Amino acid sequence: MTFHVLTLFPEMIEEVVNTSIIGRAVKAGHIAVETVNIRDFSDRGNGRVDDYPYGGGAGMVMQPGPIDRACRKAMETAAPGTRVIYTSPQGRVFDQAMARELAAEEDLIILCGHYEGVDERIIEKIVTDEVSIGDYVLTGGELPALVMIDAIARMAPGVLKNEESGVEESFSDGLLEYPQYTRPPEYEGRKVPDILLSGDHEKVKAWRRERSLERTLKKRPDLLKNR
Ligand code: ADE
Repeated sequence: MTFHVLTLFPEMIEEVVNTSIIGRAVKAGHIAVETVNIRDFSDRGNGRVDDYPYGGGAGMVMQPGPIDRACRKAMETAAPGTRVIYTSPQGRVFDQAMARELAAEEDLIILCGHYEGVDERIIEKIVTDEVSIGDYVLTGGELPALVMIDAIARMAPGVLKNEESGVEESFSDGLLEYPQYTRPPEYEGRKVPDILLSGDHEKVKAWRRERSLERTLKKRPDLLKNR
């Protein structure tokens, strides 16, 4: 799977995707992340890609031309019909189900917005999905793009070492994950629940299921509503 990221700050994307588990997955060839610097497609001598908003108002707006050309550059290597995601607080809110759906794509183009926004005409022309990572406003689309890449990429085959860990975790079946423990068996007077040391796999499974339900009810009762 290849992510094509249209951005004014490619170094921000590259730094993160070359680190930790996603970095390992990129090195191993399980996923690829290609950045396209929108500034390289400016048609003004000074490399600028933003301008004042028609009608006045605060902030600058990204022009349609450079974004269009950057997208065409990404489309040179992306499969025909590749979805173009625009990161925006006005979009559909990203969740695990959307991550799972997008993980089935061969390529994804992600357009990172900046300033006060991008010219509406480029959204109409190229964007297939407008996606928000939550109801708050960030200074740019790079962090949302990275959040999405992380959540989607970890579901690509081979990215996680233990395939199990992708299944038995928070949200995979609409519940929060059960509590986890490792050594030592007692820490500052707090003991690991006996059942986890019992070696009885069936009991451990039942205990974990109960804890998942209990936690979800306590911390995120909204997740249980539709079950
Ligand atoms: N750009 C600015 N804020 C954002 C958000 N919450 N989600 C996605 N893109 C954004």
